Amino acid sequence: MEETAAGEVNAGHLPGTTTADLPPGGCLIAWLCENALVLGAIILVVSFVVKFKLKDWRQRWFAAFCDSMSKHVDAKRELMKKDLFASLHSVQSYDPELRKANAIKLLEIGVGTGMNFAHYPEGTRLTVIDPNPHFQQYYNENRKKFPNIHSEDIILTTGENMDMIPDNSIDVVVVTLVFCSVEDTVKILRNILRILAPGGKFYFYEHIKEFNPSKHPIRRFLQILLTKTRIWPFLLDECCLDRDMLHALEKAGFSKVEAERFYVEIDHFVFQIIEPSLKGVAVK
Ligand SMILES: C[S@@+](CC[C@H](N)C(=O)[O-])C[C@H]1O[C@@H](n2cnc3c(N)ncnc32)[C@H](O)[C@@H]1O
Repeated sequence: MEETAAGEVNAGHLPGTTTADLPPGGCLIAWLCENALVLGAIILVVSFVVKFKLKDWRQRWFAAFCDSMSKHVDAKRELMKKDLFASLHSVQSYDPELRKANAIKLLEIGVGTGMNFAHYPEGTRLTVIDPNPHFQQYYNENRKKFPNIHSEDIILTTGENMDMIPDNSIDVVVVTLVFCSVEDTVKILRNILRILAPGGKFYFYEHIKEFNPSKHPIRRFLQILLTKTRIWPFLLDECCLDRDMLHALEKAGFSKVEAERFYVEIDHFVFQIIEPSLKGVAVK
């Protein structure tokens, strides 16, 4: 700051000019120049917080949301899952020791709070992965209710990065309501094929994009709108409403794929947007 001959304070602009001499917006520019350092520091701190904290806050909220949703088990959806997982009880392990014990080795990808435990056969050796660390507390609470299953701690990783699971080591892979939010569907399918023992089975259930848009045009429109505007993915940990993995699954290299597009009945009005679904079993 300098004082002019006339005694006016010159706030960082050209010598001999006053604030009144500056063009419109000049005051702001002068202020920005003077406070550039402070501004830079504020921008740095805010970007740091956003980069490292926003993801964590969103994941924390999503885990709490899924946990609260899991308290209201949808009876019709449970019936559908019971039917899907019924054949799990006749799977024989590739491992002679487990076969003797009439048990199987099952890997669940994106386990969340552990909503599928009720459908797993007695004695199942359960390995689980999930990238969201905030699910651990809910998962650990839930697994206590199922002492008949040998469940391990969550391995914090994605389906795209599961090098820690050896090749040909798993009898059954289960994935439910996960492919809507993954980065690379093809890579995950490749990993599933790698870790499944020969003849091993992959069970899946996913919500998908509306497959009958002429009958349900409004649902299709809302799915696209909410996904493209990023409202739904932002609120629900990158969940997208406009995906369908069937094509990728058919091309992945399984020896047999049995898949069905269907509508799961959901009571909650908002969540009827995820009624179009895909379920089935693929064999390595
Ligand atoms: C809607 S929840 C479903 C949880 C559980 N499978 C169920 O059916 O209730 C989606 C889960 O997928 C997990 N997830 C997201 N991206 C993933 C990825 N790339 N690999 C593995 N899991 C992922 C999330 O952390 C979350 O636990």
